[in-house]
Amino acid sequence: MKVSVNGLLSCGLACMFLLPTGQALAESAPSTGLSLVPRPLLAQSLVDGFRPGPRLVIDIGGVESIADSANWLAELISAHSGRDVVVSPSPKQGGDIQLLLVSEEAMRDRFAAGGLAPAEKMTEAYSLAVDSDGVVILAADEPGLFYGMTTLWQMLFALNAEASEWPGLLLLDAPEFSWRGLMLDSARHMQSVEFIKQYLDWMSLHKLNMFHWHLTDDQAWRLEIKKYPRLAGIGGYRVPAGEAPRADIDPATGKPRLYGGYYTQDQMREVVSHAKRRYITVVPEIDVPGHATAAIAAYPELGVTGHGVQRVPASWGIFDNVFNLEETTFEFLEDVLSEVVEIFPGPFVHLGGDEVETGQWAGSDRTRERMTELGINDLQSVQNYYVERLQKFLDAHGKRVIGWDEILQSDLPPHSVVMSWRGVEGAIEAAAKGHATVLSPAPTLYLDHIQTTAADAPPGRGGVITVRDIYEFDPLPESLGENRDLVLGLQGNLWTEHVRTESRAAYMTWPRATAIAELGWSAAANRDWDDFAGRLPDAVRRLDRLGVAAADDDQALYRRPLAVAESYSFRREDRELELCSQSIVLALEDDAPLEGERESYLVDIQNPCWIWRNAPMTSLRAIRASVGQLPFNFEIGEAIQNVVVEAAEGEYGSLRVRLGNCDGPVIAETSLATALDNPAATVLPPAEVKLTPDAGASADLCFTFSRNGVDPIWVIDWIELERAAP
Ligand code: ACM
Repeated sequence: MKVSVNGLLSCGLACMFLLPTGQALAESAPSTGLSLVPRPLLAQSLVDGFRPGPRLVIDIGGVESIADSANWLAELISAHSGRDVVVSPSPKQGGDIQLLLVSEEAMRDRFAAGGLAPAEKMTEAYSLAVDSDGVVILAADEPGLFYGMTTLWQMLFALNAEASEWPGLLLLDAPEFSWRGLMLDSARHMQSVEFIKQYLDWMSLHKLNMFHWHLTDDQAWRLEIKKYPRLAGIGGYRVPAGEAPRADIDPATGKPRLYGGYYTQDQMREVVSHAKRRYITVVPEIDVPGHATAAIAAYPELGVTGHGVQRVPASWGIFDNVFNLEETTFEFLEDVLSEVVEIFPGPFVHLGGDEVETGQWAGSDRTRERMTELGINDLQSVQNYYVERLQKFLDAHGKRVIGWDEILQSDLPPHSVVMSWRGVEGAIEAAAKGHATVLSPAPTLYLDHIQTTAADAPPGRGGVITVRDIYEFDPLPESLGENRDLVLGLQGNLWTEHVRTESRAAYMTWPRATAIAELGWSAAANRDWDDFAGRLPDAVRRLDRLGVAAADDDQALYRRPLAVAESYSFRREDRELELCSQSIVLALEDDAPLEGERESYLVDIQNPCWIWRNAPMTSLRAIRASVGQLPFNFEIGEAIQNVVVEAAEGEYGSLRVRLGNCDGPVIAETSLATALDNPAATVLPPAEVKLTPDAGASADLCFTFSRNGVDPIWVIDWIELERAAP
């Protein structure tokens, strides 16, 4: 390839479009034809394309530090171009695919020549040209070169593997935001280092560049801290909730088998080093002063006196447990952070700071005493003190603190970053106070929400969030006013309470994260849902090729209305029924069987109640049901008073079917007795239907359970209507 950096610097518009061999521009290419995600800033066709030979050389232009990434992309390109792709380390050799690091000024010139207003910094920007001589990728930094290669990989994927010509093309591209992130919760459920490295690979291929690693929570402490080995050694393990895990005795200990593990410091360094090769920054999160139960279980002296923690809990929600105010606890946290900053070289440390309950402090004389000593006047300020004090510590170690939007209550220097999760209000307030901010609002960017109510979809938080819901999120809301520049970007959060396996973590993330990637990279003027939806099938095929079990059902992708079974079918799965209410809706997985497939059920845990609208009633004789029982393992505070418990007559409880609405007469009832000892789904004996003759051809049926308490939660697996023989 005959491109010289100097040449690029010295020529203007003509050079821009004539690059590299003087050929003319063809019609502007619709970006959909390339199926690129995120969508590039500018894409134009060139008349002549490139005819690749059987062997392709990527010349990395002497940028040795990019060799590893280039080798990886060479393998990927090789896999779907059917060609041998090799990386040449020598800057002089030339190649079919040429990478060149150029000056920011050169990049600005190229963008200006393309009619684009170039940014002051050309961070992560690249240009990519395909013509008869081959491919040239130019950038002012390594991430830019890397992103150019990821674009090439995506582009070639859209072509037939045997394509004899790669279409002539010029792309100019740069990101809208510097923070394009995903958060992975490795505390609630843990993923292997191998999986996390793949997760980083998939992120990088979509130009996502921030990996927020949620490493500590009530249910686990997952990072090895050398000075406090019990943190991970004890705090990393728990007995999962439910009858089945409780009965699963580990012969080695004679006690229930533990779920868990932790990341050694070497493993975390391996993740950091892999991330670096993918141009991703790792942001570790150590959540203080709440979400601390696992740490307190490991070192009880960290907790508030009188609130001992016997074991690492296996329930979800907001716990009362908080760190105490002792000086020794701050020394402990600073020791922990000292190790954290050694492992994670990136500029940010996330201190959590969310969902702190002040009750234990309020009831503690010793905390009051310490508050007086420290000059803290109220309980809210106790929480603030944590963040302020640790922020100073991290500042002194050259780190920038980021926290959930509750940290806004603290008195923090402007360089602290606020992650807005309770809607976008936190971002607006943060920016008004001069803080940089990252938008990751629930529920839209919470990837633990289900993507569809299809019966075979995996568990998650209720409330469907589709790819389109995410795509239509506005990362620069009007109300930011003048402070738009303080938005660093956005982030999707994959909480894993209900995401037990790695394949489900992949499924919940993809393809929704492609929408996050585009929101983060492509400016609003360059985004269009219909165009994106047209590119999505190729994006999903690429993910599939990478081995990502992405959600691929049309409902998730295009938000078609759920095709509920015909009203005259006689069987419905739980997700084909309507929930009676929407208080705390979850798609929950059964705790049994321990091995193999488990059922999952859509339920409002505050009101387990389902409605079959317009059920066919003619000749209805009996109702058959398969039901499951789930542990009530939810810390929901006062809201537990609102859980609907319909009293059982006698010891077992029953499934009740009412006619019309949920206040109607009971027309069928069957005991749960046969299901009590089976922690997995059980088919109950048929419930005989007692109908008045005027019941009509169809009617609504309401299904509830009578029971003796909130635990377990009885749930519908499926319902069948049995008709009398004609
Ligand atoms: C959060 O979802 N508690 C940040």
